[in-house]
Amino acid sequence: MNRPPALNLSDFGPDFTWGVATAAFQIEGSPAADGKGPSIWDTFTHRRDRHGRTPVKDGTTADVATDSYRRFREDIALVRALGFGAYRFSISWPRIFPAGGGPLNRAGLDHYSRVVDACLEAGVEPWVTLYHWDLPQALEDRGGWRARDTVHRYCDYATAVAGALGDRVRHWMLFNEPLNIVISGHVTGAMAPGRRSLPAYFAALHHVNLATGLGSRAVRAADPDAVIGTTQYVSPPIGSGPGRLADVAERAAHAVLNRAFLEPLLGLGYPWRTAPLLLGVRPFLRDDDAAHLLADLDFLGVQYYTRLRAPFLPLPGLWTVPQFGGAEHGNELTSLGWEIIPEGLGMALDWAHSYGAFERIVVTEGGASFPGEQVVSGRVRDPRRIDYYVRHLAEVAAARERGVPVDGYFAWSLMDNFEWAEGFEPRFGLVHVDFATQERTIKDSGYWFAGQLGGTARPPE
Ligand code: FCB
Repeated sequence: MNRPPALNLSDFGPDFTWGVATAAFQIEGSPAADGKGPSIWDTFTHRRDRHGRTPVKDGTTADVATDSYRRFREDIALVRALGFGAYRFSISWPRIFPAGGGPLNRAGLDHYSRVVDACLEAGVEPWVTLYHWDLPQALEDRGGWRARDTVHRYCDYATAVAGALGDRVRHWMLFNEPLNIVISGHVTGAMAPGRRSLPAYFAALHHVNLATGLGSRAVRAADPDAVIGTTQYVSPPIGSGPGRLADVAERAAHAVLNRAFLEPLLGLGYPWRTAPLLLGVRPFLRDDDAAHLLADLDFLGVQYYTRLRAPFLPLPGLWTVPQFGGAEHGNELTSLGWEIIPEGLGMALDWAHSYGAFERIVVTEGGASFPGEQVVSGRVRDPRRIDYYVRHLAEVAAARERGVPVDGYFAWSLMDNFEWAEGFEPRFGLVHVDFATQERTIKDSGYWFAGQLGGTARPPE
């Protein structure tokens, strides 16, 4: 495990973007500051069932999180000290439109304007995600992503933000991982808004795709110099089952997990031949939707964590239900039980490139949580995370050699933060956060990046 890093990040060349990523709800805290309205994640994390249980594993909320609404300058200084040239963060929609639509909240917008300025002053390029899961609760009350009207409210929001910050922000990402919005939010219920319904799934799938297509044109109109992308959770699945049926399961899973979120944006429609389940989208399709779905994208953000398992299911129209694998497969597991399979990243990149639709592909997230990380004498020794990045970045280098135009990599995450329904246990940061004191301590993995990228951070002697 103490294998020396065999990879030289400078070999990726001067035009490669090195960044770290965060998301508003996971770090900001200050849930009511400057006129913010509630989001579906505020509601979800505060929900209690009749036994007093919450949907969050450790019962925590993100009311404070890493307090980054107030500490953003300190965080951006860390990005710089670690040697990264780019900081990917998200804007909280209910800070800009507390009621989803209606009057714009100037104080919320001013906050992000200050964050953008702080990045530029630190020599860090801001990469802005417009939607990282925190829908205004007011819109959820009117149907959320099940309702077509939310698509138009999203376009209004994107127009307002891109118009206001486009003079200083070049890189925009429309959505973070529609897969989780749609499936974890509307089918398994593990994430906000916590629904479990097939009609909700089909409606949300189509409306989030529609918002990506229409949103891309809204941002382009508001900020003609914008470089527009969107990010997708990409999991090349691993089918299993008797004989050819393993293949059937694998292809069905690939259609549901990956293709259904990309192909409509490229004018290819929904892959319902391979996954008949997706025929459920039909009632939500309108005449002009094929044109509205077409997305005007300059890059695709690929986010890869693991390959999901897809066992064959003998149910008509539903041939598999993808799931996380376990220890029985012999792969190392993260603290969330996710199998570490670096070659899956190479496969994800090849798949994204196979459409020939993107001049640029950026890995907008990748990272891992490991158990038992502690600060000892000012150090956090996390050799497994360094090993994780070395092995995954080797896949990126190999993909580039194959001609895949990957020109950026964002580590998830800058610092430990609120990991959605998993609470604070999974620590994904390059920087450790003591959630009681908010003290930040750079982990060895952070020092590893700093050493490679010319950052100023050095481990204490
Ligand atoms: C991704 C999310 C990100 C974080 C990582 C661990 O799916 O986009 O917010 O939770 O997983």
